[in-house]
Amino acid sequence: MILVTGGAGFIGSNFVLDWLAAGDEGVVNVDKLTYAGNLQNLQAVASHPGHVFVQADICDAGVLARLLAEHQPRAVVNFAAESHVDRSIVGPAAFIETNVVGTFRLLEATRAYWSELPEAERAAFRFLHVSTDEVYGTLSKDDPAFAETKAYEPNSPYSASKAASDHLVRAWHHTYGLPVLTTNCSNNYGPFHFPEKLIPLMIVNALAGKPLPVYGDGMQVRDWLYVKDHCAAIRRVLEAGTLGETYNVGGWNEMPNIEIVKRVCALLDELRPRADGASYIGQLTYVKDRPGHDRRYAIDARKIERELGWKPAETFDTGIRKTVEWYLANGEWLHNVQSGGYRDWVAAQYDNAKEATA
Ligand code: NAD
Ligand code: TYD
Repeated sequence: MILVTGGAGFIGSNFVLDWLAAGDEGVVNVDKLTYAGNLQNLQAVASHPGHVFVQADICDAGVLARLLAEHQPRAVVNFAAESHVDRSIVGPAAFIETNVVGTFRLLEATRAYWSELPEAERAAFRFLHVSTDEVYGTLSKDDPAFAETKAYEPNSPYSASKAASDHLVRAWHHTYGLPVLTTNCSNNYGPFHFPEKLIPLMIVNALAGKPLPVYGDGMQVRDWLYVKDHCAAIRRVLEAGTLGETYNVGGWNEMPNIEIVKRVCALLDELRPRADGASYIGQLTYVKDRPGHDRRYAIDARKIERELGWKPAETFDTGIRKTVEWYLANGEWLHNVQSGGYRDWVAAQYDNAKEATA
């Protein structure tokens, strides 16, 4: 089996569901269940014999050593992280703890386990680290998209903590020979996306008749990747990636935020029109910009396409339609994730932004 960390979060839970659907190899799923971890994402595999869920912190070296010894995985896939840039600005400590210290502990526990494996299993073992395009910094309008050779220039506490973890992963390969692979992907979207991030937040707020808060001028550009395409890329890298290499994963969907919001509103207008017949776009509100907000990310995904034959299956049009349909069909999931903690975050984050623009 394989061991996955952070498998109750957005991307991790999609990965676990797809993994179990795609084959008969099991998964040990290690997740601390922070505010972003949600066992409801995994309801479909709650009684699957191949899914072992363990609530644990990747900073806990003792638990990691025990789990590796007990389950003898052939690979570790590390999704666990604090992942929201805005939260990293308000409180960076948890990002250093999980993303840097947690990755270090996971690398050390994995190294101890891997170094004792019999020769053939040692050679076949893989440690795949899931990272982000945000480590590369920001691009101007005409800069080429991020290639794997782009220097790291992280600008937020989140991206700096991910960059630090990527460097640790690289060093564990060069120094100790740990068989690592790293993927740096662009902004994911799709089912089970926690509604603090742009796309699900816009859907939730639109349906609730609330303002759609767009930071600054809304012209920041992201490259959007449907989460199932990302999961397929990770499976492919795990299967055939060259040890020590990094692979950029993107959807070839560069778009300014304002355009994303317009697309979401147009789909909602079509699929769940407002009672008064007006468009949801009327709820758009410009709010104070995020400090240090990166202007543009763009991924050059030619390496993974060329070397491993992966390509995204979804265009933005097909992926965003599936996503909006999923949120409309999963009102109970949405209702349940909007806990007290979530409401407190939204109140603090957006009330401050409103005050600052007033
Ligand atoms: P998420 O915030 O939805 O989920 C993170 C998961 O990790 C949660 O289930 C949480 O409970 C768990 N977790 C947090 N701290 C932990 C700890 N100390 N020990 C064990 N589990 C812990 O994040 P996501 O969007 O699913 O992102 C997954 C990974 O992909 C992250 O490493 C992130 O940096 C990376 N990534 C995400 C995106 C994106 O668009 N969402 C883009 C690029 C890279
Ligand atoms: P986000 O989903 O937080 O992802 P990231 O910061 O990792 O790219 O944000 C995506 C873009 O949307 C980013 O440029 C910030 C912007 N944004 C808003 O304009 N309003 C919002 O309420 C949020 C959460 C994000």
